[in-house]
Amino acid sequence: MLAVDKKHPASRESPMADLAPMQTARTIIALEHDAQGVALRWDDGLRSRFHVLWLRDNCPCPQCRHPQALERTFMFIDHTAPSIRSATLRADEVLEIEFRAGDESHLSRYTKGWLRAHGYSENEPRDRPCTPQLWDADIAYRLPCIDYTDYMQTNAGLRAWIEGVKTQGIVLLRGVPQQPGQLLEVARRIGPVRASNFGEHYDVVSMPNPNASAYTSMGLELHTDLANWRAPPDVQLLFCLKSSVMGGESVFADGFRVAEDLRAADQEAFNLLSTHDIEYRFHDDTCDIRTSAPVIEVDREGRLTRIRFNNWLRGVMIGPEKLIEPMYKALATFWGMLRNPKYRRELRLEPGHLIAYNNNRVLHGRAPFDASSGERHLQGCYLNQEDVDSALRLLERRQA
Ligand SMILES: [Fe+2]
Repeated sequence: MLAVDKKHPASRESPMADLAPMQTARTIIALEHDAQGVALRWDDGLRSRFHVLWLRDNCPCPQCRHPQALERTFMFIDHTAPSIRSATLRADEVLEIEFRAGDESHLSRYTKGWLRAHGYSENEPRDRPCTPQLWDADIAYRLPCIDYTDYMQTNAGLRAWIEGVKTQGIVLLRGVPQQPGQLLEVARRIGPVRASNFGEHYDVVSMPNPNASAYTSMGLELHTDLANWRAPPDVQLLFCLKSSVMGGESVFADGFRVAEDLRAADQEAFNLLSTHDIEYRFHDDTCDIRTSAPVIEVDREGRLTRIRFNNWLRGVMIGPEKLIEPMYKALATFWGMLRNPKYRRELRLEPGHLIAYNNNRVLHGRAPFDASSGERHLQGCYLNQEDVDSALRLLERRQA
């Protein structure tokens, strides 16, 4: 796990009560204000307006934010609505505002970097690092591959791994020492492991009395893991310890690529799969975990946020009757696309390979293998996306 940077305790004295680096090369060239807000003009032409309530609520001073915890202590509900009495730009480009609320007055200061980073005006540039880059079988030529030592020992290696997970949604580590505990060492470089009913980690081997399809030598269709959980794990890590069997090649597909192609080719199927729930269930002697959710999830702007597809965890189809046939048809269309070789990337994991992928985007599967022909031993575990994003922000903080 990333350690807190103890070498830089001074960062606790951030003028904005925020440890994130928020510098900007841009300059504020004009300031106007009235009682209800402040308008800034920047040297690149951007105009940002900030409402008086928003500014007062975001005051970073030690009376409004806890000076050590940096968390908000100001409770706007306990104060009369403020108005702006004065707004000035100091020589160091700190915006100083005096608020008046009944008999109270309050002085707040905001750095230009913080204002630039938090502007909410309509034309504000949105910083969206690591936009997903969709792929099909051509990922063979641009699969991010990182050396284990670089990942474990350098910021650049760690950053490359995180960016691979966030953009391509898949990244391969090579040269991982072939010791069983190594999987967790790799995971904990990012953060705590996300446990499930299969434990903190699990061993993918062929078992005599399996409680899951993964623990057989069967081929596994492309799927996402733990589709039966309300929030399936975000990132899956699969570490290959032994791979001498005939067969067992891994296969991956970018579910976002397939879903976007489905949206373009068959809007009706896309709409059904993104609005109508499917039930998913896993049960054995110790648990019975189920949920209902769409195969394709989108956000309020229609952007893809999650693929949830796993045939052996699929429960009974949810009605109404008039949707049963269209749902089977839509599912078959999506599933048929997943079987199209143009979307599929086969990869034989070799001992020392550790592949990680976004389980809410990239589907994985494997070819059947002959368990009597040799050994096959993989270990898997999961991480939360929040911890991946946090690790990236910590890197940015250190590099600022
Ligand atoms: Fe799986």
